[in-house]
Amino acid sequence: MEEEESGRFEVRKLEISDKIKGFIELLQQLTIFNSISDNEFDSRFQDLSSYGDNHVICVIEDKKLKKIVATGSVFLEKKFVRNCGKVGHIEDVVVDSSVRGMKLGQKVIEFLTNHAKLNGCYKVILDCSVENKGFYEKCGFKHKEIQMALYFN
Ligand SMILES: CC(C)(COP(=O)(O)OP(=O)(O)OC[C@H]1O[C@@H](n2cnc3c(N)ncnc32)[C@H](O)[C@@H]1OP(=O)(O)O)[C@@H](O)C(=O)NCCC(=O)NCCS
Repeated sequence: MEEEESGRFEVRKLEISDKIKGFIELLQQLTIFNSISDNEFDSRFQDLSSYGDNHVICVIEDKKLKKIVATGSVFLEKKFVRNCGKVGHIEDVVVDSSVRGMKLGQKVIEFLTNHAKLNGCYKVILDCSVENKGFYEKCGFKHKEIQMALYFN
């Protein structure tokens, strides 16, 4: 990133006011879904906040444009195995198409993996498309196992 650009991007947790900063439009670059109402957003935000450190959504704001340009989430699953260990599950990683290739994706992954590590996880895992394998390898991940899915709708 250029020197003058360094203060432009703020990495932080999702805030309730981020809906009007393009957070939903950003997620629409990841998968197709209709927009949600302010009430639906607020209600889901409150639900997720009640998980505290066990569910965190990272965003990057372009301070100049007051726009959310990158995001990703991590859910910390409590287990019996590994001495009642915890596993971090990374989901919904996306960078706005206008700022891809500026290491913002890497910053989101760093934020999420640090959070999982600091909160006692013994590993962090995610699913990705074959096209994005190289990106996650750059972030230090290794290919393991395969994904199985059963969709209900
Ligand atoms: C995949 C995605 C998150 C990457 O974000 P980004 O901000 O553009 O990536 P970064 O700039 O942080 O890239 C970090 C490194 O990974 C490399 N990289 C990025 N995307 C890559 C890809 N698809 N394949 C291989 N390498 C990739 C970069 O070249 C860079 O390498 P370098 O350190 O040698 O320069 C972004 O392209 C995106 O949002 N894609 C669409 C949505 C999506 O597919 N999300 C992932 C769901 S699993």
